[in-house]
Amino acid sequence: MPIEESRIFTKDSRQPDGEQSIPFRQLQDVEPLADSFSRKFSYLRLSLTDVCNFRCRYCLPDGYQSSGRQHFLQRHEVGHLLSAFSVLGTRKVRLTGGEPSLRRDLTSIIETTAATPGIESVAITTNGYRLQKLAAQWQQAGLNAVNVSLDSLDPRMFHAITGDSRFALVMDGIEEALSLGYQAVKVNAVLLKGLNDVQLDSYLEWIRSRPIQLRFIELMETGEMSELFDKHHVSGTVIERQLLSNGWQLKPRGKHAGPAQVYSHPDYLGEIGLIMPYAKDFCQSCNRLRVSAVGALHLCLFGDEGIGIRDYLQSADDQEALIGYLRESLSQKKLSHQLGEGNTGVTPNLAFLGG
Ligand code: 5AD
Ligand code: SF4
Repeated sequence: MPIEESRIFTKDSRQPDGEQSIPFRQLQDVEPLADSFSRKFSYLRLSLTDVCNFRCRYCLPDGYQSSGRQHFLQRHEVGHLLSAFSVLGTRKVRLTGGEPSLRRDLTSIIETTAATPGIESVAITTNGYRLQKLAAQWQQAGLNAVNVSLDSLDPRMFHAITGDSRFALVMDGIEEALSLGYQAVKVNAVLLKGLNDVQLDSYLEWIRSRPIQLRFIELMETGEMSELFDKHHVSGTVIERQLLSNGWQLKPRGKHAGPAQVYSHPDYLGEIGLIMPYAKDFCQSCNRLRVSAVGALHLCLFGDEGIGIRDYLQSADDQEALIGYLRESLSQKKLSHQLGEGNTGVTPNLAFLGG
């Protein structure tokens, strides 16, 4: 049984906005956050909940299993967190989940994020089931970009992969985001051998006249699914070869860009992104950090236990201490994940940290 959506909304926590301890005009003077390999971190992925109402086969095949009542970060904690990260050089924030739109206070969290001095871009990753209804409201609150997960353009295959029958609703949501003129509308498809790996042509046709960046993500092995991984993992190079032989060209990497290699073609309004976490040197350009929905800093999607920072998020007075703690924590960041060696770290599934 899918979980009942109304029961898993978290409480709206309207709180006065936290004041800034370090005025914006001084932002430039602060040394940006860096690790021991001189990588700088301008991109923060913040999970707002680990609850999801879909049951993607590679993520939550049995649906979300609650482990007791969870207390996810509240708006004022998010405000304090983002102020500190922004002082340390964060310019782009992605709100993720689970499914972030299951939070009733999402719009006000977007507002807080967009209002944080120094944050230039606010994006969300969603399964899209509330996009049609809320895309305009989110945009007004300051959201610039949406990433929608869409593992197939065929409703039956979509159902087979996600366990959900709301394909049409998700598609309408994507059209709505396009018509509202969001800065970026991206669509994520996890590449699955034997399921959607032969659908490139229909995807290409779809983006011929739509300014969508369609991203194929190689399936990543997580703690809960090694059998599925062995059966369905396929390298993104399969798509890469088809693109290159059909006139698609690799674009230079953009500012604060995520991990995708992006391809464009003069006959298409849309673009293709390839995310290949198993490729050599994938981690070299890492510019992102993650914070879980309960306020733990994760230095890598496939790293060790998160580093608890929630105690520092209760008051603007703790900003300096938080900044010091974040700097110190970054020295533990490793050069690369060890996925190639079959070491998936602590991440049980990606609903936990939003991919
Ligand atoms: N491998 C690759 N991508 C995944 N996602 C979730 N789990 C996995 C996995 N094991 C994707 C979702 C969504 C994004 C947040 O991460 O499809 O697009
Ligand atoms: Fe939900 Fe995303 Fe996981 Fe699918 S991949 S079950 S939409 S969190």
